[in-house]
Amino acid sequence: MSTTLVRRRYLTNFENHRLPHLFTDVLVIGSGLAGLQAAIEAAAHCDVLLVTKNAVDQSATALAQGGVAAATAPDDSPALHAQDTQAVAYGLGHEDVILQTVHAGPGCVRELRDWGARFDLKGESIAFGREGGHSRARIVHAQGDATGREIVRVLVERACRNRRIRIFENCFTIDLLTLDGNVVGAVTYHPKYGHQMFWATTTILAAGGAGRVYRETTNPVLATGDGLAMAFRAGAILRDMEMMQFHPTTLYVAGAARALISEAVRGEGARLLNASGERFMPAYDPAAELAPRDVVSRAIATEMKRAQSACVQLDVRHFPPGHFAERFPNIARLCHDFDIDPQNDLIPVRPSAHYLVGGVAVDIDTRTNLPGLLACGEVASSGLHGANRLASNSLLEGLVFGKRAGEVAAQRATSNGRLERPHAISHLLPQSPRTELDLADIMNSLRSVMSRNVAIERSGDRLGETIEIIEFVSRYVMDKVFDDPQAWEIQNMLTVALCIAVGAATRCESRGVHYRTDFPQLDPEWQRHIDLRRGEEGMQASTANVPRVEFETT
Ligand code: SIN
Repeated sequence: MSTTLVRRRYLTNFENHRLPHLFTDVLVIGSGLAGLQAAIEAAAHCDVLLVTKNAVDQSATALAQGGVAAATAPDDSPALHAQDTQAVAYGLGHEDVILQTVHAGPGCVRELRDWGARFDLKGESIAFGREGGHSRARIVHAQGDATGREIVRVLVERACRNRRIRIFENCFTIDLLTLDGNVVGAVTYHPKYGHQMFWATTTILAAGGAGRVYRETTNPVLATGDGLAMAFRAGAILRDMEMMQFHPTTLYVAGAARALISEAVRGEGARLLNASGERFMPAYDPAAELAPRDVVSRAIATEMKRAQSACVQLDVRHFPPGHFAERFPNIARLCHDFDIDPQNDLIPVRPSAHYLVGGVAVDIDTRTNLPGLLACGEVASSGLHGANRLASNSLLEGLVFGKRAGEVAAQRATSNGRLERPHAISHLLPQSPRTELDLADIMNSLRSVMSRNVAIERSGDRLGETIEIIEFVSRYVMDKVFDDPQAWEIQNMLTVALCIAVGAATRCESRGVHYRTDFPQLDPEWQRHIDLRRGEEGMQASTANVPRVEFETT
């Protein structure tokens, strides 16, 4: 296993007596839904510094179309929502986490409305959408297909108004600082201020996912897995990293970037057609187009392979005239940009990397194995999703666990008190004598090999080759100290890609979003988490049991 990659502790060199220092109670890394929610909650009790590598309103959340799953409709209940969530988790979901989340859902939606979120209404009540794997229409949405943008608007406004929250935009967090295994803050880089050291009693990691390690993804360019990689370097456990969810329907126009066509479109009645123009989903699952995502993505991949075609088609031509554009105004606009008129034309779609179901292992209170570090949102593996995520459960998770992280961080900060002097932490790695490689080429090759070998279908041989390739390249990339965010992102992407590939090679079965052609069955022996962590001799892989608690259904 690549010792060059795994042994690397800090990506940058720093000497603490040469750098500016800032002190805070709570440091939040990331400004998606979970990070903003955590900052707002913590700031009710203490001072918060929120750092984000782009503008504060730029995140994967802002692109979320579908909505927030919350059991608030009269024919619905948290128990039904829990059952649906547990059903797609394929035995890896934590029942206590699932119950806590679905019960908190309606309250979170109410709070967002109180804060000014304008969700779509039917008459006086909330209008609920339907998505795959949900037994009820329970998806709360805004402006048809712009739910994430609306929630971000409300949370950003609230965070910016709060005098106890300082927001540092365009500030790249390079690494978490650790002292005797405790996380004590982070070293960051800002184009104007250079390197800085931020010291905090508690650090909340909410830095999002890693879809950019794949060539085709719904994720924004900033989803390069920085939070996962820095947590790994600091000694955190990364759990079930092989569980990368592919969204079944992203717009396929050759040469253009993939863009999400929300699952809510299928929830509204859209059908999937293969290259012969036949509807194929009923042959794969009784829920047809509304089967869970892993089932639909694999069915599409099978149909594409069978017909040697680059995509399948989404058909909404049977919708009443004007309905599609009214219900999905942004998707309609996107289609029109590519000269597709959904009322009369089929929409070409194919699956793309969408959501990392695995992540930094946390308990029900968002605590990681490192004292001082909490994690929430996509970067974390909370046990809510298990081996597959139910549509629109991610915004719900960000709301519920962002808030919990804020509460826990504030409690910790209040009882431990604020650090007043910087710790003596420095890092100096000598210059490497090895050849420099072209980083842009490395990134393209990495994204291609991950898309070919570690996507919807995996096999032991190809995973082994992928690990070899990443290890080889890492010898020439992870031995160097770079001084710009793009290079750090590529180092982070290599780290996360290796973890995904090692997790996938370790799990010799098929479960949820992880499908092995050489082990096509679910194996009860593997109803365990796969935990990866950094060791001096290389990557350490172990397994952990799935906690069992009484599953209440009332
Ligand atoms: C979608 O609108 O299909 C994406 C929402 C999600 O991933 O939950």
